[in-house]
Amino acid sequence: MTAAPLQDTRYRLSEAQALELAETYGTPLYVVDEAHFRQRIQTYYQGFRAVCPSGELSFATKANSTAALIKIAYSEGCSIDVASEGEFRVALMAGVPASACHLHGNNKQLSELTFAISEGIGTIVLDNFEEIEAVAKLLKGPTSGIQHSAPSLVIRLAPGVDPVTHAKISTGQADTKFGFNIVDGAAEKATQRCLALGLPLIGYHCHVGSQLLDPEAQISGGELIAKFAADMKARHGFETTYLNVGGGLGVRYTEKDIPMSHAEYCSEIVAAVNRALEGTGLNPKLGQEPGRSLIAESGVTLYRVGSVKTVPAKEIGTRTYVAVDGGLSDNPRPALYGSKYTVERVAANSEQATTNTPYTISGKHCETDKLFEDVSLPSDLAAGDLLQVLCTGAYNSSMASNYNRYPRPATALIRPDGSHCLIQRRDSWEEMLAREILPEGLG
Ligand code: LLP
Repeated sequence: MTAAPLQDTRYRLSEAQALELAETYGTPLYVVDEAHFRQRIQTYYQGFRAVCPSGELSFATKANSTAALIKIAYSEGCSIDVASEGEFRVALMAGVPASACHLHGNNKQLSELTFAISEGIGTIVLDNFEEIEAVAKLLKGPTSGIQHSAPSLVIRLAPGVDPVTHAKISTGQADTKFGFNIVDGAAEKATQRCLALGLPLIGYHCHVGSQLLDPEAQISGGELIAKFAADMKARHGFETTYLNVGGGLGVRYTEKDIPMSHAEYCSEIVAAVNRALEGTGLNPKLGQEPGRSLIAESGVTLYRVGSVKTVPAKEIGTRTYVAVDGGLSDNPRPALYGSKYTVERVAANSEQATTNTPYTISGKHCETDKLFEDVSLPSDLAAGDLLQVLCTGAYNSSMASNYNRYPRPATALIRPDGSHCLIQRRDSWEEMLAREILPEGLG
C-alpha cells in the first residue's frame, strides 16, 4: 500500500513566539497549539464520519495526559481512552464524565477495576481471563457504594498481524502480552465465558501497533476482528454492537515519514471492516482510539543551547556536539526507539549563517546520549540559541521522568487568539524532595 504524500502539517513556532515563551516560562518547554490540536481532531473526525457516520474517536491519553489537552479532546467530541487509574483520574479531574472513558491495561489491578467501576467508567476493555473473573465478581458481588450503571465490556483481541514499525510498539502479533489470541481459541473462550457469566459484553477491540506509516496491518486487524465478530454471531449467537480498531496512524517526525491523511486512513479501514461484515446482519458502532496522530504534530519542544564543542571522531574526523538543557528525561524516545526528529533553530544570538553544518545534539544527562544525530543547523550555532524540536506533542510529556533529578518541563498552550498560558508547570524542587524519607539512625 502506498501512502498518498501529505503536506507538512506540523506546528512550528515563529521566532517571536519562541523568544517570548522561553523568556516567560524558561526552557526546556513543551508547547502545544490549541487550534492545531482541535483542527487535527476535526480532520480525523471528518475523515472518519465521511465513511462511517456513527464513528467515534477516543483520544488515547497515553500519548499526552495533560488535563487541559484531555479537556480539549473531550470538547471536540472524543471519548477518552485511559490505560491506568492515573490516566483515568486525570480525565475525571479534567471534567470528563467517567461514562465517556474506557479503561485499558493488560494487568489491571483489582484496585484499579474497583475504582473505575465505582466511579461509573463507561467501558472496560478486557485483556485476560483473570480480569473477566474479577470484573464478574465486582459487578455481581455486593454493590454497596457503587451507584453507577455497569460498564460495557469489550474484549481485546490479538488478531495475529505483524505491523511494520518498531518492535517495542508492535502489539497486534500473536506473540503478545496484550489481549486474547484469535488463532489459539482464547478469544472465543473469552467470549463464551463472558456470555456464560451474563456480562454486559458489547464487542471487540484491537490495536496492532503505533507510528504505522503502512496501514496494511491495521487494515488486516480491522478485517480480522470483524470476521471474528461474525463468527461469534454464527457460533454463539453473540451480536456485536461495538468494534474498536485502535489507534496507530503515524506522523511526520522527519521528511522521511510520510503518513496517510486521516481521511484516506479511515476510508481504508472502514472499507475493510465493512467488507468483513457484509451479509452478517451485524452493524456495530465503530471506534478508533488514536493518540499520536491527534496530538504529536501540535506540539514542539523548546531547548536552549548551552555549549557547542567539537571533538575528534573516528572515521568522520571531528564531531560537533551541541548540548541542550534537556534530553533523556523529557524525551526518552530517541534512546528507547532510535526515534528521529526535526530540529530547527528558531532564535539566534548572532547573525543568521548562510551555510549549514551537521551537529550531534546531546542532552545534559549522565549518558553518552545522542539525542538528535546528524542535524543540519546553521554553522554559527552558539550558546544561547533557541532550538525547537517538531512533533513532540505525543509520548514526550507523558513519558518524561526525573532522571538525574531534573524537573520535568512545563507545558505552555498557545490559545486560538495567539495568547499563551501554562497548562502544566515545571516540577518544583519541593515536590521533588517531598517523597524522600530519612528514617532515624542513618548517621
Ligand atoms: N490504543 C491502545 C490500546 C494502545 O495501546 C495505543 C498505543 C493507542 C490506542 C494509541 O496509539 P497511537 O495512535 O498513539 O499510535 N511509547 C511509544 C508508543 C506506545 C504506544 C502504545 N499504545 C512511543 O513513544 O512511540
